[in-house]
Amino acid sequence: RLLIIDFGSQVTQLIARRLRELNVYCEIHPYQNVTDAFLEEFSPRAIIFSGGPDSVMREGSPRPPARAYDLGVPILGICYGQQVMMHDLGGKVEAGEHATAEFGRAWVSPSEARPDFLNGWFLDGSGREQVWMSHGDHVSEIAPGFQVLGTSPGAPFAITADLDRQFFAVQFHPEVHHTPNGKTLYENFIRLAGFTGDWTMDAYRDEAIRLIRDQVSDKKVICGLSGGVDSSVAAVLIHEAIGDQLTCVFVDHGLLRQNEADEVVTMFRDHYNIPLIHADEAELFLGELDGVSDPETKRKIIGRLFIDVFQKYASDIEGAEFLAQGTLYPDVIESVSFSGGPSVTIKSHHNVGGLPEKMGLKLVEPLRELFKDEVRALGRELGLPDSFIGRHPFPGPGLAIRCPGEITREKLAILRKADAVFIDQIRKHGLYDDIWQAFVAILPVRTVGVMGDGRTYDFACALRAVTSVDGMTADYYPFSHDFLGETATRIINEVRGINRVTYDVTSKPPGTIEWE
Ligand code: XMP
Repeated sequence: RLLIIDFGSQVTQLIARRLRELNVYCEIHPYQNVTDAFLEEFSPRAIIFSGGPDSVMREGSPRPPARAYDLGVPILGICYGQQVMMHDLGGKVEAGEHATAEFGRAWVSPSEARPDFLNGWFLDGSGREQVWMSHGDHVSEIAPGFQVLGTSPGAPFAITADLDRQFFAVQFHPEVHHTPNGKTLYENFIRLAGFTGDWTMDAYRDEAIRLIRDQVSDKKVICGLSGGVDSSVAAVLIHEAIGDQLTCVFVDHGLLRQNEADEVVTMFRDHYNIPLIHADEAELFLGELDGVSDPETKRKIIGRLFIDVFQKYASDIEGAEFLAQGTLYPDVIESVSFSGGPSVTIKSHHNVGGLPEKMGLKLVEPLRELFKDEVRALGRELGLPDSFIGRHPFPGPGLAIRCPGEITREKLAILRKADAVFIDQIRKHGLYDDIWQAFVAILPVRTVGVMGDGRTYDFACALRAVTSVDGMTADYYPFSHDFLGETATRIINEVRGINRVTYDVTSKPPGTIEWE
């Protein structure tokens, strides 16, 4: 396996992503954790030093342990990682003046000393390659044993290497999208390290099962199942590892979509034979939400009740020592990110972060190293149906935040039906997989209409469908007029209580995906 030592770059996770695309197993560890003992235990076949925001000239700035250079394995240093390597091995780094700091696009060409080396290694033969630079300090003298392989107008040491020791150090970021050929560089580096690119989801699954068994031994595990892809994949994987030592708790807050609770219970209890407690607490949640219309208050009430309910049911499971969560790699990075900086709370996300301490449970997080699409691949490997794995994301607070204003049972019932028609339309037209998320929001206004010969005075609703890669930004989906017209007609004909349908064409930003 490959070790990525994280010095705090914003894009470290992209290095891992590139490597997984090349079927190489890697792990990212913050530099503080990488000690001599850690290296011994981890026994990496290659190491990558990530970029980072610090300056190697600052006393106490992040460093790898000296042992890393003595392991006899290839090392690739990126940006700050290059500077660290040069500094540690006897080169020089200078502080960035405005004139030498570089941010953005640059072009790398082969050095005069080694005009051919980079062909096929990084260059495609056209003589130069676009890269993305983002650095303040720069290397001013390379360490003994190193030579320059590539230069750019602003970076005489853009690509440097000690070919005997197989140490490579680059000033730019090969992992980002704006270094289009960066993957080739990683590919050559990992081949050099002897990786054959045989890491697959199948291998990952076996390894994950082994790790879960080691961690849990004969103890009991509780898993909070939401019906979403992440917690479902985690539950099925853990069940494969430890069987009925696992119990799932499914908190049903009465704010799920049509048939959703039944589908989750049937799939896990009947199909997978996983012990499942269906905590049907709709009365409790809807009771506490009665009369509440402020979005943040709704979210807080749901979050608090969720924890209470989960705790109540979980405390019935005697002798449980572990809590399983479907935490993904981007969640991990977000919580340990060096980026810091005060950011404004737009919405307080449904979050059960404090639960393990409160309940005195240890965590099992078998998906901690994976990205969303990798979790889907693992889910497929575990036999979860495609229709389930490809499902659109659904927010923790459920339909509560798709029902602006006060939540009533009547509105929820209407919303569920309208939503089911909209999703059915999308599936029928073969659009489901092109859309990141689609749903209906029921609006807190009634409008006048005419049906047959009579006047109606019913709710208006809004359709929402967006494209996105990560939910952070989004654009509305460009349905055809025919599709929109047909859907509006179907909703008004099939759902009693709605007499007007609108389509929300707001992008994110400035809108958010959900209405609250
Ligand atoms: P927004 O509305 O913030 O949503 O643009 C971005 C993505 O996050 C989902 N979402 C949530 N997911 N708990 C969740 O698990 C929440 O509290 C929550 N709020 C929004 C939303 O559905 C979209 O995919």
